[in-house]
Amino acid sequence: MIPFSPPRIDDKIVDEVSAALRSGWITTGPRTKRFEREIAAYTHAKKSVCFGSATAGLELALRWLGIGPGDEVIIPAYTYCATANVVLHCGARPVMVDCAPGSFNMDPAQVAAAMSARTKAVIPVDIAGYPCDYDALRAIVESPEAARAFRPSGKIQEALGRPALFADSAHGFGARYKGKMLGSVADGTGFSFHAVKNLTTAEGGALCLNLPDHFDHEAAYAWLTTMSLHGQNKDALAKTKKGGWRYDVIAPGYKCNMTDIQAAIGLVELERYEKETLPRRKAVCMRYNQAFSGREDYLLPAFSEGETEGSYHLYQLRIDGITEDERDAVIAAIAERDIAVNVHFIPLPMLTAYKAVGARISDYPVAYSMYANEISLPVYYDLTDAQIDEVVRAVSAAVKKVTGRG
Ligand SMILES: Cc1ncc(COP(=O)(O)O)c(C=O)c1O
Repeated sequence: MIPFSPPRIDDKIVDEVSAALRSGWITTGPRTKRFEREIAAYTHAKKSVCFGSATAGLELALRWLGIGPGDEVIIPAYTYCATANVVLHCGARPVMVDCAPGSFNMDPAQVAAAMSARTKAVIPVDIAGYPCDYDALRAIVESPEAARAFRPSGKIQEALGRPALFADSAHGFGARYKGKMLGSVADGTGFSFHAVKNLTTAEGGALCLNLPDHFDHEAAYAWLTTMSLHGQNKDALAKTKKGGWRYDVIAPGYKCNMTDIQAAIGLVELERYEKETLPRRKAVCMRYNQAFSGREDYLLPAFSEGETEGSYHLYQLRIDGITEDERDAVIAAIAERDIAVNVHFIPLPMLTAYKAVGARISDYPVAYSMYANEISLPVYYDLTDAQIDEVVRAVSAAVKKVTGRG
């Protein structure tokens, strides 16, 4: 059996988690705070906040921005449901745009066309960890027309004076856009540390802040951490200080803090991320690329261009000319060989919850074409070269079985 993306759990992780358990402090505490500082140092973000998931961080980011009913947030149709759900939870309207031609990422030209006086934020998604066209997106939100149309509500929006650019980079930890680390490119960037991600904390996420310099990043951090703990102005650690029991609740917050047990995993993962994790993931993707490069009907994923380099989160192979049903049959034939593959993603307008609010896949032809023939192959640290070759053979045999080509 070749699984899709198991985490790398070894003695180092077990030892650090044990140390956290034995330390007497298992919820948010010193390890989480250190992990936040190390994430900010790695990504060059001005500040980083950890949460129980990327979704929680993104939703709190929208609430910090003061986004609510009557507002619009531009998102890609090609993404995971979390991107749309956080907008809907805030009572705002997700306005979906199609992919750029031949790309899994959102099309800036369509973002420009979707901007309105109600637009409060744009959420690009770095699919598979490959960075979106941030220069084009920033030019749109910072354009004089966007600033003129913008109707701020609340202090944060007034201070920004334009729609926010907050990325859902659940896949993109460690990726570079034109030489800059994601986390220090958009105004805010959410990363996921879910079990299948490049860097995991079992469940977890971080929001990196890179707001214009006139923002008080410490104040934003304080608001976000407080609201991740019910809106209570003292966390459990602060309350253990002698005589420090009294607290207030400044607003009805959420409960989505990261624990020190999660951070213990993350600290080990982060320490070896550049030296071990990313190089191995890159090597896996390059071995697939080399094996498939002789086939004209195999469309290979983009991993780098100039100083832009993705995080090698997914290997998204596309088989030219096959239908959605044929793709599904190819996946079934691969599964018969005990190999787990996946599809990233079913575009949101094909899912019940978003059809119910009026989305139609016929409005997103590029998203559909990218999805219909896509198969995500296993990529993980412990995947051996022999296993990669086995996946390659299984894919080729499955494509031959379904299409007769090969
Ligand atoms: C594009 C995208 N956004 C957001 C998320 C949510 O991440 P989390 O599970 O950490 O909330 C995911 C998770 O897979 C994702 O793929």
